[in-house]
Formats: sequence, structure tokens, C-alpha cells
Amino acid sequence: MSYQPATNRYQNMEYRRCGVSGIRLPEISLGLWHNFGGVDVFENFRKILWRAFDTGITHLDLANNYGPPPGSAEENFGIILKKDFAGYRDEMIISTKAGFTMWDGPYGDWGSRKYLLSSLDQSLKRMGLDYVDIFYSHRPDPETPLEETMSALTSAVQQGKALYVGISNYPADLAAKAVEILKASGTPCLIHQPKYSMLVRWVEEGLMDVLQDKGVGCIAFSPLAQGLLTNKYLKGIPSDSRAGKEHGALQSSAITPELLAQLQALQNMAERRNQSLAQMAIAWLLKDPRVTSVLIGASSVAQLDDNLHALSNKSFSVEELDAIESILANKPNH
Ligand SMILES: NC(=O)c1ccc[n+]([C@@H]2O[C@H](COP(=O)([O-])OP(=O)(O)OC[C@H]3O[C@@H](n4cnc5c(N)ncnc54)[C@H](OP(=O)(O)O)[C@@H]3O)[C@@H](O)[C@H]2O)c1
Repeated sequence: MSYQPATNRYQNMEYRRCGVSGIRLPEISLGLWHNFGGVDVFENFRKILWRAFDTGITHLDLANNYGPPPGSAEENFGIILKKDFAGYRDEMIISTKAGFTMWDGPYGDWGSRKYLLSSLDQSLKRMGLDYVDIFYSHRPDPETPLEETMSALTSAVQQGKALYVGISNYPADLAAKAVEILKASGTPCLIHQPKYSMLVRWVEEGLMDVLQDKGVGCIAFSPLAQGLLTNKYLKGIPSDSRAGKEHGALQSSAITPELLAQLQALQNMAERRNQSLAQMAIAWLLKDPRVTSVLIGASSVAQLDDNLHALSNKSFSVEELDAIESILANKPNH
């Protein structure tokens, strides 16, 4: 089967400036953490990538360890890039990361210069790329000097293997320090990638202010709380869902009666807005202009399409926002 990108692919997507950089990212980006690995169905994820590109999703997010097995999402993505997207590399922002366990021994984990730069070489090889657009430190390393991790990111850019750098999962104080170190090195931090959804709101306790203050973009990962913020678990755990699969990162024990009651209340609220719960959860994040992009996952084209419809209703009345806060009951105190 051959693929021709839709000619109207930029018609409906809006792009937000990433911090104070020259880059704009689509309001919805696609992540390849789950559903693109060696255990998944090639023709299914190939079609998800086609649909993403056809709808203006220019940003695709990977990491060295995505799979399973680790590395296989990058390999599969590389095959599809070559087969289907050969002339379109310059229309894409492709990111990868290193920071979680990737190979045996003391050099295949955390934040050393040795690990980050060797891992980036491996990622480029797996994807068949000369460079990535964004290279991330995937998590802070409490034992490696922050200067060493940040200098590895700077080197990646100096070596022409990454155009921009980012940090992920860094708490506000460490993010502020990392951004300053990068700035002094002449390689500014483009973006921070934190976990952020209606159910997980730690970024509101200071990180968003730091990012705004320092002109760094924010891409929110797991915006649907891995699928919890959809209608899929309201009537039990489907066997083909992330919570139902053996290799899924979502534990079925997370789905408590209390959470289900909350999700049902949110679902009722979404229905009143003529949206699915997934759409409302995405729109709720995009209401903050400091959120550059919402980084979703999808196991089917239908899910991707459902999520994209979030973009047709992104505004909330004060009453709706108040009603959502009273359901969530998790607003951080400033
Ligand atoms: N930096 C980090 O440390 C980090 C960590 C995690 C993720 N990420 C990035 O963030 C990306 C997204 O994370 P995520 O996959 O957890 O995001 P998510 O959007 O919260 O969850 C995606 C999952 O929710 C379900 N889903 C999506 N849309 C749906 C819909 N409309 N209706 C019903 N179910 C739907 C699917 O699960 P089913 O399989 O159940 O269908 C899908 O795989 C990752 O791919 C990765 O790029 C980064």
C-alpha cells in the first residue's frame, strides 16, 4: 500500500509557539510510547501515523526505550519514515530521549554524558536519521551533576545530531537550574515535557510559572491519564486496553470505585458540552496558553480522530470550569 499525504493537512490544525523559540508545535502531538512496538500490529500503527500527518500533527515523540521491546518503536518508526514519508522529513519535528534504563551495565541509564550521547547515536541509527529535532534528558539524575547532563545535550546540538534540546520530568527548581545552565552554554532549552492531565496537576505548583518566566515551551504527556480520562473504563476493563494488556503501563488497580465515580461525573459534563471525555480532557489542558502542545497516545485511527475533535471546542465557561474543579477536587494550593 502506498501513501500520499493529504494536500489539505495544514488546514485544521493550529500551531502554538514553543516558549520564545522559532518553533511552533501542533496543539496535538502524537507519542509512540505504547502501540508502536515490536508487540504491536505494524499496519495499525502505520495507519495511525498516516492519519496523524494528514491532520497536521507534525510532531512525533519517541524515546530510546519505547516498545516493547525497548528500541522497537524507533525501529518501526524508522521503517515507516523510509517507506512512506521519504520526502517529508522537513515537515516533521521528531524527538527522542534518554534517561531511563536502556542497556545493561552502568552506562545504559540515568544522566551521564556517556549514556546520553551513546544512546542518541543508537536512536539515530534505529530511526535511520541524521539528526532529531529535539533531544531530551528523560529524567533528572540525582547522582550526576546537572552540568554534565546539560553539557551532553549541548554537545548533541554542537555535533549536529539534534537541533534543539529539552528536559522531561524535572521538578520546578531543577528545571530552573537546567534552563539557566543551557542558556549559558548557548543552547537554550526549547521545551519541558511533564506529565499533566486533569488527574495529575503537579505542574501547576510552580513548574508552569518557571517555564513561562524563562520562555520555555511545555508539552503535556499522558493528557488522558493513559486512557482513564476516556469513556473506556466506565463499564469495566476491556482486554485490549492498556490496563487490560500484560505489557501496558496502566495498572488495573488504579481504577478504583472512587475514580470511576469521578470519571462518570466528568463524562456527564463532557456530554453536556457535546464532547467525549477524551476531547474535554484535551481541551481543558489547551485552555492554558502556556501549554504548547498536548502529547497524546492512540491505539487506533478512531481514537486519534476522536481526540482531534477536541480542537473544535476548546473554550470553557466559568461555570463549567468551576464544575470540573468540584468534581476533580485536586486543585493545587498556590
Ligand atoms: N517523558 C516521559 O517520561 C513520558 C512518559 C509517558 C509518556 N510520554 C509521552 O507521551 C505520549 C502519550 O502518553 P500516553 O500514551 O500515556 O497518553 P494518553 O493520551 O494519556 O493515553 C493514551 C492511551 O489512551 C487510550 N486512548 C487514547 N485516546 C482514546 C480515546 N479517544 N478513547 C478511548 N481511549 C483512548 C489508548 O489506550 P488503549 O491502549 O487502552 O486503547 C491510548 O494508547 C507517549 O507516547 C510518549 O510520547 C512521555
